Amino acid sequence: MASEPPGETAAVVPAPPSAAAAPIAASGIAELGQEAVEARVPHDTDAVIRCDRLVRIFAADGIEVQALQGLDLLVAKGELTAIVGASGSGKSTLMNILAALDAPTAGSVRVAGHDLTTLTPRDRTQYRRTAVGFVWQQTERNLLPYLTAWQNVLMPMHFSAVPKRTRGHRAGELLEMFGVAYCADRTPAMMSGGEQQRVAIATAMANEPAVLLADEPTGELDSETARTVFGALRTANTELGVTILVVTHDPMLSGQVRRTVAIRDGRTASETLRSHETDADDTSGHAVEYALVDRAGRLQLPRDMLDALNIRERVRLEAEPDHIGVWPDSAANPQAGES
Ligand SMILES: Nc1ncnc2c1ncn2[C@@H]1O[C@H](COP(=O)(O)OP(=O)(O)O)[C@@H](O)[C@H]1O
Ligand SMILES: [Mg+2]
Repeated sequence: MASEPPGETAAVVPAPPSAAAAPIAASGIAELGQEAVEARVPHDTDAVIRCDRLVRIFAADGIEVQALQGLDLLVAKGELTAIVGASGSGKSTLMNILAALDAPTAGSVRVAGHDLTTLTPRDRTQYRRTAVGFVWQQTERNLLPYLTAWQNVLMPMHFSAVPKRTRGHRAGELLEMFGVAYCADRTPAMMSGGEQQRVAIATAMANEPAVLLADEPTGELDSETARTVFGALRTANTELGVTILVVTHDPMLSGQVRRTVAIRDGRTASETLRSHETDADDTSGHAVEYALVDRAGRLQLPRDMLDALNIRERVRLEAEPDHIGVWPDSAANPQAGES
């Protein structure tokens, strides 16, 4: 068994802040790990969502589950980003942390200027009331069952700076914007699942949050209804300028956004960027899939590419002027050797 790759062992060494800008020069792979630590690129401070090496470990009955394993994510203001990933990959854990319902075991997370790792209970309440809005998969979790749609949208405004006399008008406008004005006097039980989710989006937007978080908001809906609800999210993004992070299992929906981030084993693994947003009937947008390089310079190679070349523990790297070549280790792997 070969020794640990240098990047992995180096990852546990905290980066001294003073070393962040130190110039470096690589002479070989052996030094890469240390350099990766020293050369951490300062994070984009303009990002509305900024996760840096987020770790969340759940301990249940003596068994440890590492739901997030050093997740990095930057989301710029005004972006509508889809999050995809297999069940159990850590998507909801991430959303709960961003919603300040849960706290990370390690790492840092900032949302709309709030450092979520140091919130006092009072700040946390304030953050959840004004800085973020949420829409969850279970429609019953989003709305109060004994209030009408209009009253539900008004509810969050009781705790906000929106002037009292304009609240009713604003609630009406939001219901109108998401195409559910006709549901104003209905309670959730009198609405369809899709109507409830659109009212939930209106409610989440009541206090003009900087960020809207939606965890599989269309998960319980048929595909036609899902499309309408997704359309409401896009409306919130374009009309109100809110930054949106939406978890979805539906490739038809994630195919409609400019940026899709895939989470694998508690880390952001790859990302697909489309040249322009498309709707379901227009698939002309050009999509390119990228692997992600974390701040320490680590890259996760897709399993199918590794298997195709029988790559196990090591690769040889060669720097070319415009790309980096990755070759299988021919000594360990003669049949996959180079020419
Ligand atoms: N409260 C919890 N206690 C113990 N394990 C949890 C808890 N929440 C999530 N997990 C585990 O963490 C992993 C990621 O879960 P989750 O974030 O819900 O995944 P996803 O939303 O991508 O399906 C899973 O293995 C899940 O079982
Ligand atoms: Mg989930």
